[in-house]
Amino acid sequence: MSEVKAQYEAYPYPERDPKDEKKRLISGSPSHVLEIDHFLFGGQRDWSKPLRALVAGGGTGDGLVQLAQMMKSAGRALDLTYVDLSTASRKVAEARARMRGLEGIRFVTGSLLDAADLGQFDYIDCCGVLHHLPDPQAGFEALLAALAPGGGMGFMVYAPYGRSGVYPLQEAFGALYEGMTPEARLKAAKKLVADLPEGHPFRANINLGDHKDSDAGFYDLLLHSQDRAFDVTALAEVMGAAGWQLSGFTMPALYDLSRITPVPDHLSTPEQMALAEKLRGTIKTHVGYAIRATEARAPASGKNRALVPHLKGVGAGDLARAVAQGQKPRLGFAGLDISLSLPKGAAPLIALIDGRRSLAEIAAQTGTDPIGMGALWGRIERDLGDFGMLLYSNILRKA
Ligand SMILES: C[S@@+](CC[C@H](N)C(=O)[O-])C[C@H]1O[C@@H](n2cnc3c(N)ncnc32)[C@H](O)[C@@H]1O
Repeated sequence: MSEVKAQYEAYPYPERDPKDEKKRLISGSPSHVLEIDHFLFGGQRDWSKPLRALVAGGGTGDGLVQLAQMMKSAGRALDLTYVDLSTASRKVAEARARMRGLEGIRFVTGSLLDAADLGQFDYIDCCGVLHHLPDPQAGFEALLAALAPGGGMGFMVYAPYGRSGVYPLQEAFGALYEGMTPEARLKAAKKLVADLPEGHPFRANINLGDHKDSDAGFYDLLLHSQDRAFDVTALAEVMGAAGWQLSGFTMPALYDLSRITPVPDHLSTPEQMALAEKLRGTIKTHVGYAIRATEARAPASGKNRALVPHLKGVGAGDLARAVAQGQKPRLGFAGLDISLSLPKGAAPLIALIDGRRSLAEIAAQTGTDPIGMGALWGRIERDLGDFGMLLYSNILRKA
């Protein structure tokens, strides 16, 4: 058995109790249905057709359960396959799906390197897996071979700067504990980590918390036998070499150098993103969506007034009220502390965002002319869309 499989048999990740499905749905990125439509289908997917989806390296089922539950709640058809090396993880994922009455999921124990044998998929989820392969490019290639025309992938890979302090520890533990069982490694490493001096880069890194949450989290963060991080340049290279192209990161603002400092003319967009990552210093994962490079298309944009906007992570009513009162609501996430500064005129538009009305309908209902709409909606997209809080999808509009 490979060391990676042995780890996930001993410590299925993330640690989840199927009974908790009765209490809450874990939702996040990638594989939020609104993001899938927004980044991969221009916000205009034909949802009357079943979505053929593969969750590659599905672990204990976070992405799987989110996608299946959201599709079920939206009354949309899903043809879902899960594949993972670890049978222990699969058992947890199966139990979670059962707990929610999510039926018809095909569970496969195997490698994503054989993804094409499982079928052709409109959507592939690969969250926190590709950086654990001995050859990540081969993983990207294998997933592309399983991608149906017009489809795309939601991914998460580790990023280096927000994980500072992790890799020297991983290397040291790997050498020290060679040949030991996962349980013995965990015990020994926990003791050393508890005694790290205050100024140690790992202890000083407040971006990381997995090791405090659970044994599986500790193991995944500090005892992994196969783990590498990609800065944005390395990520673009490996994706490009495998035939993928980035559609967008879920939070483009993080990579926008102009939000940090004035941008000199000589820098290309990829160079700007690379510098933004270095200057922010806190990005620990890259989360985004990718498409086949030969089919390059942009994410959804409000320039198309037929699209239906949704807010994510903030309520339309609350936000509209705050903006109408001239407040600057503060948002703290992803290591950022931002304050929205939307003009009062944006409030009536925000108030009408309900995931069903199109932009054209919102403009008509508020009596906003095309010039006013262009100016106000541009501000809303910059303030909310660039932080992943505004997405376009017609999933809730039924013919
Ligand atoms: C860090 S976990 C992520 C789990 C899940 N995607 C999530 O985000 O919660 C990595 C998972 O990838 C699986 N894995 C690693 N290499 C794999 C491969 N070649 N094929 C399929 N699964 C793999 C592991 O067994 C493990 O369950």
